Amino acid sequence: MNQYQTENLEGEIGIQRAVEILRNGDCVALPTETVYGLAADAMNADAVNKIFEAKGRPKNHPLIVHLPDVSHLPKWAKSVPDLAYRVADSYWPGALTMLFEKADAVPDAVTGGLNTVAIRVPSHPTFLSVLKSFDGGLAAPSANRYKQLSPTSAEHVLKGLDGRIAAVLDGGSSALGLESTIIDVMREKPRILRAGPVTQTHLQNTLNIEVLAPEIVADVVPGNVKAHYQPDTPLQIYSSETLQSRVINQNKCNVFFVVWSDALADVCHEAHARIGLNWIRMSADPARYGQALYSTLYDIDKLGLSNVFIEQPPNTDAWRAINDRLKRASS
Ligand code: TXA
Ligand code: MG
Repeated sequence: MNQYQTENLEGEIGIQRAVEILRNGDCVALPTETVYGLAADAMNADAVNKIFEAKGRPKNHPLIVHLPDVSHLPKWAKSVPDLAYRVADSYWPGALTMLFEKADAVPDAVTGGLNTVAIRVPSHPTFLSVLKSFDGGLAAPSANRYKQLSPTSAEHVLKGLDGRIAAVLDGGSSALGLESTIIDVMREKPRILRAGPVTQTHLQNTLNIEVLAPEIVADVVPGNVKAHYQPDTPLQIYSSETLQSRVINQNKCNVFFVVWSDALADVCHEAHARIGLNWIRMSADPARYGQALYSTLYDIDKLGLSNVFIEQPPNTDAWRAINDRLKRASS
């Protein structure tokens, strides 16, 4: 369905053009601080349906609605608990999405027929300019084909969606590189439904209450399926010890190694000198690792190798979102 001559937009003129396209009921990929989103007018069901067509996404997977600021919230959420205002105070604009009971006006196309709606105010200045000028809600899932890697640059968006969307607005590389944290604030103890840049520790320290982070919540987050965020090159995760022996025994260059520890970096370095091993050392800081993860996997895909082997990151709260995405990418 390559029916568009996808426009490449940038700067102030690009922002105005993006708003014009959105008002006309078409989709535009926009930069956010997490990943690029494929946006459409959230009150226009026809426009929202174009998102599902372009992505090849099942229609029952609900979308996040992006708002210019918290004052728009009552138009989209039937009731807003006090806790939500406290969370918004600390985290909006930013990488945090909250789940609410939906207002009647929100189209079923956005929520996949659920009676809840997911909402966030993003902080990327370009997306915020578009939202302020549009002066309404924009539904936007990540701007990738269904199940593939989320894009963190305009180039990544075009890899999957060129010809399938009206335009992409270039706002540089996404600063965080991982999708927003999703939390359910409708119950007494809020719970994290998707791990993201805002961690359980952050939330608990800021809000001064217990925040749950259950292991399996796929039933309440319908799009968050097990196999997701997948590169074209098959990906496997190995413990540091196992990966170390794989590197030492590796005698072909058909695999890419992604490591973060000093020990693995040393053996990869040696193996590169020995057989030209393909490898990259990622940051041992989770924020930097997360920022680079998807773009690194996009670059590895260009090499057309048979596998990518990843060193298991630490199993701590700060790494939770990364471990979650890696697990799905290897599924
Ligand atoms: O950082 C992000 O959140 C990015 C940027 C573009 O904002 N968006 C994003 O959207 O990651 P998407 O569609 O790829 O993931 C949204 C997730 C899905 O797993 C979906 O199931 C969940 O949010 N979601 C949306 N509305 C929901 C609802 N009403 N109830 C439960 N889960 C919902
Ligand atoms: Mg997505």
